[in-house]
Amino acid sequence: MVKPIELKNVRKVFNHPMKVWSKIESVKDLSFSMEQGEIIGFVGHNGAGKTTTIKMIMGFIKPTAGEISVFGKKPGDREVKSKIGFLPERPYFYSELTAMEVLKYFGRLSGISSSVLTGKAENVLKKVGLFEDRNRKLASYSKGMLQRIGLAQAIIHDPELVIMDEPMSGLDPIGRKEVKDIIRGLKRDGRSVIFSSHILSDIENLSDRVLIIEHGKLKSFGSLHEIIRPEDVRYSIEFSCDKSMKDAVFALFDGVRIVSDRFVLDCADISDFNSKLAEVVGKGYTVLNAAGSYPSLEEIVFKEIREEENGQR
Ligand SMILES: Nc1ncnc2c1ncn2[C@@H]1O[C@H](COP(=O)(O)OP(=O)(O)O)[C@@H](O)[C@H]1O
Ligand SMILES: [Mg+2]
Repeated sequence: MVKPIELKNVRKVFNHPMKVWSKIESVKDLSFSMEQGEIIGFVGHNGAGKTTTIKMIMGFIKPTAGEISVFGKKPGDREVKSKIGFLPERPYFYSELTAMEVLKYFGRLSGISSSVLTGKAENVLKKVGLFEDRNRKLASYSKGMLQRIGLAQAIIHDPELVIMDEPMSGLDPIGRKEVKDIIRGLKRDGRSVIFSSHILSDIENLSDRVLIIEHGKLKSFGSLHEIIRPEDVRYSIEFSCDKSMKDAVFALFDGVRIVSDRFVLDCADISDFNSKLAEVVGKGYTVLNAAGSYPSLEEIVFKEIREEENGQR
């Protein structure tokens, strides 16, 4: 099956806007491919190269080197364009128009015939939760509502692939959740979605795979479980015992802590975990929880960056 997006050794070098003799390499040798129906979270700090990559996939700018294919065709191909929905980083809408007017305008642009246009616009407004406000001018819309209009125009023509640049930026927690729910809905409808964010927690528990870009270079690409290294997993044991044994517990285990009436014992690695667990059980203490926990994406990325800066990788 043809992949929605495929990048092979893509580079983008810009001329410096101020210093003519200087170049900026925004994207360096980036390769990845997307599977049909998956959600890819595209993460990286500001200036990492996300927007540049997205612009190349959309065909707005050309890569300096490498190859990009979108549904097996060149970016910007006419036929391909109709399969893509796009939400730019800072969408702009004419504030004198109503939501309905804006959507009909974009719907017409993407070639939706006028006989089904109103129905399509109404449907998509329902999907993004703006149906009730459809006849109000955008001037009276909140930032979150405008972002949802942006999403609505991106999906009005039922695209197979939806590309969103920072869809949650500037939104409050409720707004972020609403956008996340819309993205989940797109996946349920079988669409492929790639969206960028510099906020890692937005990407967790939403993306099938996470693409981490740092200074224009691919850092990691995989499911959260794949990009977590075994040494990143933290093991701990929680247990309880009779109060009278408290001192004995402290004497037995170095570094044991008490957290809301429970003993918590952090372990260095899996073998330390196994031997400590055997000891806890052997003493007849009550094990309440014994598990390896995964660090958050935030922790993984920052750990990687710190290590890189310290020259460990
Ligand atoms: N048109 C351009 N001309 C020169 N430099 C650019 C241009 N567009 C982006 N850049 C530079 O490329 C780098 C990556 O930018 P961008 O892709 O916008 O990052 P992100 O979206 O991850 O924040 C930045 O250093 C930015 O200044
Ligand atoms: Mg950007």
